[in-house]
Amino acid sequence: MSEWQGRTAVISGGGRGFGKAFAVALCERGAHAVLVDLDGAAGEQAALELREKGWSAEALQGDVTDAARMDEVMQQAAGQNGGIDLLINNAGLHSDEYSQPMRVLGVEKVRRLFDVNVMGTVICTLAAVPFMAGRVGANVISISSMAAYPSGTAYGASKMTVAALTIAFASELGGEGIRVNAIAPGMILTETIKAELPQNIKDFVKRSQSLDADGAESDIVAAMLYLSGSGARFVTGETLRVTGGMGAGV
Ligand SMILES: NC(=O)c1ccc[n+]([C@@H]2O[C@H](COP(=O)([O-])OP(=O)(O)OC[C@H]3O[C@@H](n4cnc5c(N)ncnc54)[C@H](O)[C@@H]3O)[C@@H](O)[C@H]2O)c1
Repeated sequence: MSEWQGRTAVISGGGRGFGKAFAVALCERGAHAVLVDLDGAAGEQAALELREKGWSAEALQGDVTDAARMDEVMQQAAGQNGGIDLLINNAGLHSDEYSQPMRVLGVEKVRRLFDVNVMGTVICTLAAVPFMAGRVGANVISISSMAAYPSGTAYGASKMTVAALTIAFASELGGEGIRVNAIAPGMILTETIKAELPQNIKDFVKRSQSLDADGAESDIVAAMLYLSGSGARFVTGETLRVTGGMGAGV
């Protein structure tokens, strides 16, 4: 039997992109997926598609920056199997817009970026942890980015903070047996990236990879399955770069 059978995974930003791909992989292994998304219609549609395949999934609308709503979401998510086994902090603002200079973005946009990418990770983790305690194998995965390492942008700074939070939460929660890791994807051609990232940037990133290959959602899903599974039982506080070797020397 799959180790995800009968377990509950909460995935922020589960309505599309990586979040939806994570949900598919976990559901097909028997997990119950809870898709938390600001875009309620996208979450509902994704959950419907999962249920139509005979899998167990529900959508809960909410903004990861809203602590009161995330408390409700985690309580509701825990109802299905008596707790939460996996939290994936995936919701994030990452369009090309947030790599513009901060002088162009202005304070309010930078604040919103950090609220979603950084505080969203803190808020969801704190809300989920009471429902993870005592569950064997419970763990948290946050989605950082390769942009964290050169870190020359507000977006990169927010994602470097996600990597730092991963170490901090791993240290705080290790005593309760909860592992906390992150994945730093390189350029992965999701629908959003295909639509929003200018071709010259796509070409530049590809040239900075060691591998002449395109990153796919399945590469990030494979990393998630490794980190969330028992094969990584002794791994915590790590940010796994899945980048085709981009910035491999950093
Ligand atoms: N695609 C890439 O190449 C890439 C690379 C590195 C990191 N990432 C990171 O991976 C994560 C997912 O990326 P994606 O390409 O699948 O994104 P996406 O834009 O396709 O999907 C993100 C989802 O998050 C939801 N969301 C946004 N803000 C939210 C909020 N405040 N509360 C709840 N839900 C919210 C959106 O409605 C959307 O459904 C992001 O954190 C992103 O920064 C992506």
